[in-house]
Amino acid sequence: FADVDLLVVGAGFYGATLAERVANELQKNVLLIDRRKHVGGNAYSEFDSETGIEVHRYGAHLFHTPNELVWTYLNRFTAFTDYKHRVYSTYRDQVYSMPINLGTISQFFNRRLSPDQARALIADQAAEMAGRHPANLEEKAISLIGRPLYEAFIRGYTAKQWQTDPRDLPEHIITRLPVRYTFDNRYFNDKYEGLPVDGYTAIFERMLKHPKIRIALGVDFFSLKSTLPAGLPIVYTGPIDRYFDYSEGELGWRTIDFEAETLDTGDFQGMAVMNYADETIPYTRILEFRHFNPERSYQTEKTVVVREYSRSAKRVDEPYYPIDTRQDKEIFLRYRERAEAEANVHFGGRLGTYRYLDMHQAIGAALKAFDSRIVPHFTEGRTIG
Ligand code: FAD
Ligand code: NA
Repeated sequence: FADVDLLVVGAGFYGATLAERVANELQKNVLLIDRRKHVGGNAYSEFDSETGIEVHRYGAHLFHTPNELVWTYLNRFTAFTDYKHRVYSTYRDQVYSMPINLGTISQFFNRRLSPDQARALIADQAAEMAGRHPANLEEKAISLIGRPLYEAFIRGYTAKQWQTDPRDLPEHIITRLPVRYTFDNRYFNDKYEGLPVDGYTAIFERMLKHPKIRIALGVDFFSLKSTLPAGLPIVYTGPIDRYFDYSEGELGWRTIDFEAETLDTGDFQGMAVMNYADETIPYTRILEFRHFNPERSYQTEKTVVVREYSRSAKRVDEPYYPIDTRQDKEIFLRYRERAEAEANVHFGGRLGTYRYLDMHQAIGAALKAFDSRIVPHFTEGRTIG
């Protein structure tokens, strides 16, 4: 470690952005480690060896951002396609557009409805909860969109996501349920959206190709922690509870089991993401990766689909979504206090801050931390953490 100026733990977007900035802007030596055998964190993708189709190994990753700074930054490492995400949901053998829009509502109630009529209909159905404070997720959802739409599109899907009856889930999990009283069926509203032309992993390879960045894959931070020189500045993007040996308790996460399958057809479902709202179907959705890149000339004999099953994570599982119960929040605050006291360690990213972050938010947070923490450390000798 003699020539290492900064150790970055985790080669996802948070760690990779900081490694890139520190090497290029400050000309400091960075050692970037990841316990996985690849860079990219959860955004990692690979071209399937049998079909050539790009598969996002940790779930579908759609890039979108309202943030000009992040968009400009990332465009230095990749061009983007003009892919615009759309999602459909199967319920009782019909296919509906998601999030709920005027098309969804008209089809569901089997009537042509104007925007005002649809608004009035939903308000009328939501009135069931008028004057009552919602006591659980089900009542909250009904207060927002009424019972019929809730029972069709939210109840089963949510029950599968949380493996819990929505009547036993706290109401604060949902603050809003987007309903669009237009036929706009774009999934995201952000100014910038697209998929990386050469795939996600190529972004990381370009960001990290620098003589001052050394990458060590398949290396777990905790297996070398005791050998590190005292005071070595560290950016840590792994789970915060693991860093402190779970001494304040274990933070709750949900994980997803991905079941991939190659099928002998050129097109399985005609779109990239199909949700399954029925509770009788065990998976929450099916991804068909070829549809993320219609601009590529993929072979037409085979297709790759992935079924997603949601469940709560055990310690050995990949942590994906913070559960964030009141107890989790309390535990996290105790860890955050301890993290602040670690003067040579900066905690970042979604695992290090126990927050769900979209990719653009992880990059944006890393760019901010570079200015507020990393630069002052290297130029003024301030603590990094
Ligand atoms: P990560 O990408 O998780 O990187 C952290 C890295 O740290 C990992 O590679 C891990 O192996 C490594 N690490 C952890 N512990 C150690 C250790 N002890 N030693 C060494 N290395 C360690 N975002 C979007 O913008 N659009 C989407 O459509 C989208 N879809 C998603 C779907 C799913 C299923 C999930 C889970 C996330 C999705 N995201 C999406 C979010 C996106 O994955 C995150 O924004 C991004 O991964 C955050 O980057 P990060 O660097 O904070 O974390
Ligand atoms: Na710190």
